[in-house]
Amino acid sequence: MSAQRGEFGSRFGFIMAAAGSAVGLGNIWGFPTQAASNGGAAFVLVYLVLAFLLAYPVLMAELTLGRHAHGNMIAALAKVSRNGTQRGIGTLVGIVGIFTASLILSFYAIVSGWMLGFGAAYPLAAMGASDTSTWLTTFGESRNLLLMLIFMALTMVVVAGGVEKGIERWSKRLMPAMIVTLVLLSGYVLTLDGASKGLAVYLIPDVSKILSTELVFNAMGAAFFSLSLGVGTMLIYGSYISDEEHLPTLGAQVALVDVGIAVLAGFLILPAMYVAAERGVMIFNDAGGLLSEDTLIFTVLPALFESMNESGTFLALAFFGLMSIAALTSSISMLEVPVSFLVERFNWGRTQAAFVATLIITLMSAAIVLNFDDLFGLVITVSTRFSQPLLGFALCIYAGWVWRRDSLLTELAQNEASGELTLFMKWWPLYARFVCPAIIALILLRSL
Ligand code: PHE
Repeated sequence: MSAQRGEFGSRFGFIMAAAGSAVGLGNIWGFPTQAASNGGAAFVLVYLVLAFLLAYPVLMAELTLGRHAHGNMIAALAKVSRNGTQRGIGTLVGIVGIFTASLILSFYAIVSGWMLGFGAAYPLAAMGASDTSTWLTTFGESRNLLLMLIFMALTMVVVAGGVEKGIERWSKRLMPAMIVTLVLLSGYVLTLDGASKGLAVYLIPDVSKILSTELVFNAMGAAFFSLSLGVGTMLIYGSYISDEEHLPTLGAQVALVDVGIAVLAGFLILPAMYVAAERGVMIFNDAGGLLSEDTLIFTVLPALFESMNESGTFLALAFFGLMSIAALTSSISMLEVPVSFLVERFNWGRTQAAFVATLIITLMSAAIVLNFDDLFGLVITVSTRFSQPLLGFALCIYAGWVWRRDSLLTELAQNEASGELTLFMKWWPLYARFVCPAIIALILLRSL
């Protein structure tokens, strides 16, 4: 491998970086609130099944393709192609991947900015700066723009630092802090009055909903989004793994951390909602369903924190700090997609690439802020519900059909001590070839 190419310095570093990418707003905000509005444990169950039976194999496709090519998605799809048409389509898929990663970052940075804003607002209010605090927590164009800019700048600084000194170093610092905070917070919230009602909603499935098309479609989107799939993030992270590492194990560890944290976050968010209800906060919408998404995080939880006085300030700081960290370790992985492309394809320096990519994505994000009602929801649906699964479909086709089986097996067998075909190596290529594309296509088609 070329000496200039970045590489993760350690196995732990890779797991923290990849799990850091996977664990984000999707786990701590998206997953629990979607569970709340999609039949509680019924959604959790379908999500778990899809995460292991669909998302994990697609994650393996990305990691293996990336490490094989030691390059970005376009380079990787070209490398396994066997003719010009396959290479052409691969390039197109790669471009859509880079564009989707940028699109995701452009809405993600807005929401992450709110997390930063709410995190700063509580200590500021406690110190008497109530005007600033109110401004930070009130929806408005200038606030949205400023916070988004700050978040994009943070993301850029980490990515410009490089794979080992930027991404890996910060993920290794931030992820353990995030996990400890999450465990402590959920442990505390579970002791409060009302928490058990939330727990029941989370853990008792509404079985009538399990096979609803909408639930399965949403759960698939959530699983793809949560494991950062389709857009080449995991592929590029895979390309930074040393050839000595055993990919199926690393992939399984990352998937387990990701799913584990989503499930754990459910033990925080749903009980917290019912604790809030116990204190008189409205947690149901007019239709009688649970409030979800932005109303939940930015209305229900703040109302809960306010009802708790000082300990509320402390909890709020911990909660929004946790969210900001989770968001940052994900956003750096999104920015790495266009950045690695610019570095590898045009030989740009990393700092220059990080700056230009950040600038373009910031402009896209600003366009969303300025046309919020029209664009925000649309961009989320297009990029996460449709583009990500479709790209996952394409990646399975490349790993399962285009890539020569012997070369694929050689890549997987690289560090198999026995040199034999393991169970994984026997089944996964077939699985990626037939089962994964079929499931994705079926779910997408049914939802149309
Ligand atoms: N997995 C991240 C989350 O759950 C989001 C993400 C999507 C990250 C795509 C990278 C690429 O929040």
